[in-house]
Amino acid sequence: MAVATQNSIERGSVIISVFSTTPGIGKTIIAINLAAGLAHEGYKVCLADLDLQFGDVLNYLKLSSVNTVAGAQRAMLDHPDKFRIGDFLMEYNHSGVSFFILPAPLYVYDAYQTDIQIVSDIITHRLNYFDYVVLDLNSMFSALNLAMLDVSTVINYVGVIDFLPALKNYKIGYDTLIRFEYEESKIRLVENRADSQKLIEGSDVERLLGEPFYHRLPNDYPSVNKSINTGQPLMFAAPDSKLTKSFDALVGLYTNRQGTGKPATLTDGGGFFGGIKKFFGF
Ligand SMILES: Nc1ncnc2c1ncn2[C@@H]1O[C@H](COP(=O)(O)OP(=O)(O)OP(=O)(O)O)[C@@H](O)[C@H]1O
Ligand SMILES: [Mg+2]
Repeated sequence: MAVATQNSIERGSVIISVFSTTPGIGKTIIAINLAAGLAHEGYKVCLADLDLQFGDVLNYLKLSSVNTVAGAQRAMLDHPDKFRIGDFLMEYNHSGVSFFILPAPLYVYDAYQTDIQIVSDIITHRLNYFDYVVLDLNSMFSALNLAMLDVSTVINYVGVIDFLPALKNYKIGYDTLIRFEYEESKIRLVENRADSQKLIEGSDVERLLGEPFYHRLPNDYPSVNKSINTGQPLMFAAPDSKLTKSFDALVGLYTNRQGTGKPATLTDGGGFFGGIKKFFGF
């Protein structure tokens, strides 16, 4: 599939951010497999790696590129009239399943130079010819993440809730998102490694949060391991695995494949960062 041009008709993408309050719990795995699953359904998809200091998307897919979001930001500042986001995207293609990646910066130094306004502009306006833009975020309520959560259509809020501190962090994160006044339908609770042996039941988490899980992904270390070792999304690395099937079901929810449930539809941004922006006038 060729990179669509910026001359395409202006319209908004469905933006799905993959976020958590704890590191290392599967955000990147989820972001990659959502992107692959949506592409498999025939949608135009871009996966933006916004874990700016320690992005893993290219590593997990065994790809490399010198073109990154940092370069895109520089080009937008230096040559706004000549800027083409397609020059900074990398294509992943396997057996006709194709999606594009906006890679994270190569150097930690570049992460410090991030201009939130420009990154927001890239995500909301320059990538808007994609049907879906999936954002792989890190685990902080940083200014960049708040801006990205604001512009997201849905927040795929992930947790691996296997012991008390994890439960505490998941609850604090959820309460914080609610305090930012996002519509509850914008926040989709996703439990990862949900069937692993643990002391805390998913139903206890739901009772504590007062909200059911949108989806539960099973624990499947061999398949994830194979996926990372071969640089392929799960649908290729482990097509018959329970985790692949579960990702297929999650993609079906986001595309409203069965015509039921809460599909990923466009909503008004708003939120905490929007409030701050208005307050400070930027
Ligand atoms: N469903 C799963 N079953 C088994 N192992 C998993 C599953 N999901 C994630 N993992 C394991 O967790 C590790 C971390 O996953 P991943 O890199 O996607 O997390 P992350 O939240 O993006 O981390 P970071 O916060 O560092 O960006 C993977 O390398 C894998 O070993
Ligand atoms: Mg990650």
